[in-house]
Amino acid sequence: MLSKIVLVGALALQVQTVYSQCQAKGSVLFAHKPTVGKGLSAHVVYNGLKKPRGIKFDDLSNLLVVDVGVGVVALTSKNSTDCMGWERKVVLENGDLNHGIELDGTSLFVSTESEVLEYQYNASSLSVSSGNPRTVVKGMKKPEGGHYTRTLVIQPSPNSTIIPHIIISRGSDGNVEPAAADPATGTAQIRRFALHPSVPDGGYDWFQGQLLASGIRNAVGMTLDKKNKLWSVENSVDEVTWNGKDVHTDNPAEELNVVDLNNISGASYGYPNCYTAWDMSSFSGPSTGGQFTAGSDNASISDAFCSNTTNVVPPALNFEAHVAPLDIKFYGGIKGNETEFGITRDWTNDAFVSFHGSWNREPPAGYGVVRIPWSGDDSVPQAKSDSKTGYEYVVQAPDMNACPSGCIRPVGLEFDQLGRLFVSSDATGEVFVIEDGNSPDASWAISTGRPNISTRYLLSIALVSSWILL
Ligand SMILES: *[C@@H]1O[C@H](CO)[C@@H](O)[C@H](O)[C@H]1NC(C)=O
Ligand SMILES: *[C@@H]1O[C@H](CO)[C@@H](O)[C@H](O)[C@H]1NC(C)=O
Ligand SMILES: *[C@@H]1O[C@H](CO)[C@@H](O)[C@H](O)[C@H]1NC(C)=O
Ligand SMILES: *[C@@H]1O[C@H](CO)[C@@H](O)[C@H](O)[C@H]1NC(C)=O
Ligand SMILES: *[C@@H]1O[C@H](CO)[C@@H](O)[C@H](O)[C@H]1NC(C)=O
Ligand SMILES: *[C@@H]1O[C@H](CO)[C@@H](O)[C@H](O)[C@H]1NC(C)=O
Ligand SMILES: *[C@@H]1O[C@H](CO)[C@@H](O)[C@H](O)[C@H]1NC(C)=O
Ligand SMILES: *[C@@H]1O[C@H](CO)[C@@H](O)[C@H](O)[C@H]1NC(C)=O
Repeated sequence: MLSKIVLVGALALQVQTVYSQCQAKGSVLFAHKPTVGKGLSAHVVYNGLKKPRGIKFDDLSNLLVVDVGVGVVALTSKNSTDCMGWERKVVLENGDLNHGIELDGTSLFVSTESEVLEYQYNASSLSVSSGNPRTVVKGMKKPEGGHYTRTLVIQPSPNSTIIPHIIISRGSDGNVEPAAADPATGTAQIRRFALHPSVPDGGYDWFQGQLLASGIRNAVGMTLDKKNKLWSVENSVDEVTWNGKDVHTDNPAEELNVVDLNNISGASYGYPNCYTAWDMSSFSGPSTGGQFTAGSDNASISDAFCSNTTNVVPPALNFEAHVAPLDIKFYGGIKGNETEFGITRDWTNDAFVSFHGSWNREPPAGYGVVRIPWSGDDSVPQAKSDSKTGYEYVVQAPDMNACPSGCIRPVGLEFDQLGRLFVSSDATGEVFVIEDGNSPDASWAISTGRPNISTRYLLSIALVSSWILL
């Protein structure tokens, strides 16, 4: 009996190890195929990852992925006899990494709940130097826990007179954290830290960072525009009430916020006192974009207080309640005209946002990637913050009732040199790409494909099954 168990165990172990690190073009199908916008195509480039979150292209077009439970893996497009497809390599193992990733030259920054770490990364060898990492920022974990991702953005230096910074977003400690109204609590805010001339030995303490924004519940997605403005997407509160009424299904709105890094105030964006209405029409509440309070022990907090822009910086644009925006990236357009891979030129300079999807509403909402038409001249969204139509889906799960378990769960976004949009989907273990519907590889999306498992895997299954049957 014992020997049988050991043998099954050995075979099972072998099954674990025979996955090819190369997944051939056209061989990988969506676990749950999304609906794709007109003129576009989407297909999986790699699956079987544990929990892919933040993604980032390096200078050699390797896609670095924070795969939670593993560390950082690189996905590389190959066109050789041993791999016609995408190959996976483990760059570094660190089971504490959970989302954030940024690159500044050879410095690879990643985050745990508590710290931001810096590794020295070599894109040619897809490896980090031994002896790494060093701690850049520490002290972000609270004993009670709460939101645990720490999104990272590098603010580069255009020349030697400007100091590069790392910008870090840290969410609230729980759904409603009354103490976060005071910036000294350190939660629900965005800070930045100078990377040069030096980072203190052992790293900065969180409170040494310059406060860029406070009262921002959980800004998981952040990106810089060309005018040095930091755009972020905020995951707002669950189970909200207004004047004692349960308004949570369609409220509050998720927010697109902006911080002008040329004019930093550290101002409050409202949380935990003030929220933004998405749809209060059934309750005669404020209209879309209007500010309201869910109630406070502090008698001076009222809807009027929340609506006063001296007290609260209002959002630039709003999203449907609970869609859970996790990343934002601008589309730089197609570089040159030698390729037909990239998404349409008409969308150059528009912003794209991933929606991980809701849990706090019925039916579910989100579960897709949206485009926000942008006004290039003004560098703002075309729609105003009172609009409910300021964005449109480019991919989305076809049936909200099948979510969350039967749907894509978009997280990280990155454009490649060809203007294709890469998206990680954590719950399905996939990285997929959105590109032009006429691109040379668009047919992969509709091909029947081959199974994503090797013949040896099937053989192992067959062996195990037949052995058990025997
Ligand atoms: C293979 O693909 C299916 C569906 O796309 C997915 O559910 C499964 O996890 C994948 N398995 C591996 C080992 O990649
Ligand atoms: C891939 O390699 C094949 C055979 O060498 C070649 O015909 C094809 O053009 C290559 N494709 C790309 C995208 O480089
Ligand atoms: C990076 O890796 C390549 C390939 O292994 C190697 O030739 C090169 O010397 C490495 N660079 C550094 C700075 O270590
Ligand atoms: C450095 O860049 C900043 C911002 O673009 C600019 O204002 C400044 O004049 C530049 N300084 C030099 C010496 O080029
Ligand atoms: C800087 O921000 C403040 C509000 O915090 C605003 O009153 C002022 O006009 C801004 N200045 C510029 C130059 O944008
Ligand atoms: C009540 O809120 C106002 C406005 O934010 C603030 O100035 C005041 O200190 C708060 N009072 C208490 C007791 O927290
Ligand atoms: C907004 O708040 C400021 C500071 O409390 C106050 O001076 C101003 O009168 C308020 N504005 C309105 C329209 O209530
Ligand atoms: C790229 O566009 C330019 C200007 O529109 C045109 O002259 C050139 O022929 C195009 N090149 C290719 C490879 O299409």
